[in-house]
Amino acid sequence: MLVTPFLHEVRAARWAEPGLTWGLVPTMGALHEGHLSLVRRARAENDRVGVSIFVNPIQFNRPEDLASYPRQVERDCELLAAEGVDVVWTPSEAEMYPPGYQTYVTVEEITRPLEGAARPGHFRGVTTVVAKLFNVFQPTRAYFGQKDAQQAAVIRQMVRDLAFNLEVVVCPIVREPDGLAMSSRNLLLKADERRAATVLYRALKAAEAAWQGGQRDAEALRATMRAVLAGEPLARVDYVSAADPVTLTELDGAATHVLLSMAVFIGQVRLIDNLVLGGEGSP
Ligand code: PAJ
Repeated sequence: MLVTPFLHEVRAARWAEPGLTWGLVPTMGALHEGHLSLVRRARAENDRVGVSIFVNPIQFNRPEDLASYPRQVERDCELLAAEGVDVVWTPSEAEMYPPGYQTYVTVEEITRPLEGAARPGHFRGVTTVVAKLFNVFQPTRAYFGQKDAQQAAVIRQMVRDLAFNLEVVVCPIVREPDGLAMSSRNLLLKADERRAATVLYRALKAAEAAWQGGQRDAEALRATMRAVLAGEPLARVDYVSAADPVTLTELDGAATHVLLSMAVFIGQVRLIDNLVLGGEGSP
């Protein structure tokens, strides 16, 4: 496995055997089973697998979030070697954004609600770094998690709009046994916060139960989730949403397909989770 901070070495490895297919898994490191599920899918579907580990400063809108983001590159590389990964790119900030850097990619409508509204500038940072990763690796397929549902939708939109020559593959959310969606930020939770953090999944499951009982009203589904979240004293709601799974616009009235999603602070740690009901709809 080649581990390198240098763009030119990744490029050389990518084009050493031009006929091969490549799968790319972009990450910010502190890898867990959620990330590894993407790596395994990439490993199964491609001749070569590339992973990037880069805590991308331009997608963080809170300096304290960037500063506290967990970093464990050595352990990450051991995990990736065990999965049969071929290339790991670990660029420095100066390698990714050299002095004088001034080009950014902005996706418009679909970045405005939800995470886009709560975290100004976040998606501009994500699409800029992912576009650059696509140009560096030129993968056949790129793998993203449904955990970040809006991010996956934004990347799909960018790939369509800018005609990137690759397939976007979105993989299911991997959860802890108690339902908490795996996240690098879970490492930052104290013991009582870790217990409280299951409230996101419990809120989603309560709305799902209501849906299965015939409830289709979007506001009623949001109210069900809010009621569960209100029962957890350590939880502070950032947003709760029942949105169209394709456009991500908030729904009113009866829904046929719905993306339930939420962002909730547990102490200082901001967690997100989501669930799709009624199928994804057609993009
Ligand atoms: P990061 O949070 O490290 O996540 C990397 C990828 O792993 C993302 O596609 C994310 O959706 C996926 N992932 C995280 N937790 C998951 C889980 N529990 N189940 C399934 N997939 C999961 O997302 C980013 O990094 C960055 O924004 C990035 C795309 C790398 C750009 O900087």
